[in-house]
Amino acid sequence: MNDITFTTCTLEDMDRLRSLCVDTFSDTFAKDNSTQDMDAYLERSFSQERMRSELSNPESTFIMACVDGVPAGYMKLNTGRAQTETMGDDTMEIERLYILNRFKRHGLGTALIQQAENAAMAQGAPTIWLGVWEHNEPAKRFYTRMGFITTGQHVFMLGDDRQIDHIMRKGIQRA
Ligand SMILES: CC(C)(COP(=O)(O)OP(=O)(O)OC[C@H]1O[C@@H](n2cnc3c(N)ncnc32)[C@H](O)[C@@H]1OP(=O)(O)O)[C@@H](O)C(=O)NCCC(=O)NCCS
Repeated sequence: MNDITFTTCTLEDMDRLRSLCVDTFSDTFAKDNSTQDMDAYLERSFSQERMRSELSNPESTFIMACVDGVPAGYMKLNTGRAQTETMGDDTMEIERLYILNRFKRHGLGTALIQQAENAAMAQGAPTIWLGVWEHNEPAKRFYTRMGFITTGQHVFMLGDDRQIDHIMRKGIQRA
């Protein structure tokens, strides 16, 4: 891979970010879920209105990774009340981390985790946490390799399907 860039998204990036959100979510979960549940989730979570609101929230940050100018993946970080669970004011959530299939296993995910750690350190958030579907073995292996440990679980609704996410956490230390 040649030129890799990481951009903090603004409202101007909404269209290409939305496409990336829908494509990566479908790539990852369509095979394990009903079309009805997927459609309900995609419509609700990635509507123009919802994306505009999330992009405008000062407690949420979307970082997009591009390869040679082509969107390849993204990460959504939440702090404060934007977090999907009450974890405290000094924690940061990685709510989403998704790489398009053709760009996986080239180090983009690792680089985005590093960016999350830098952001957490800059904001004085000594703990990063995330929820990962209990059956998403590749992602659980990836996060474990990145130093996250499982500390609990929560319920995640995909359409009408009630799923269990493992909560994983990592403490950030200053170098
Ligand atoms: C999990 C995910 C974010 C990882 O992103 P990625 O860009 O593939 O991550 P990396 O390339 O940094 O590392 C992935 C693997 O490739 C390996 N790898 C990295 N660079 C490599 C290279 N140049 N050649 C071969 N392998 C490489 C890493 O060792 C790692 O192995 P491991 O996962 O078995 O530990 C990505 O696979 C993804 O988007 N999955 C689907 C969405 C998903 O499940 N997201 C999490 C929801 S909670």
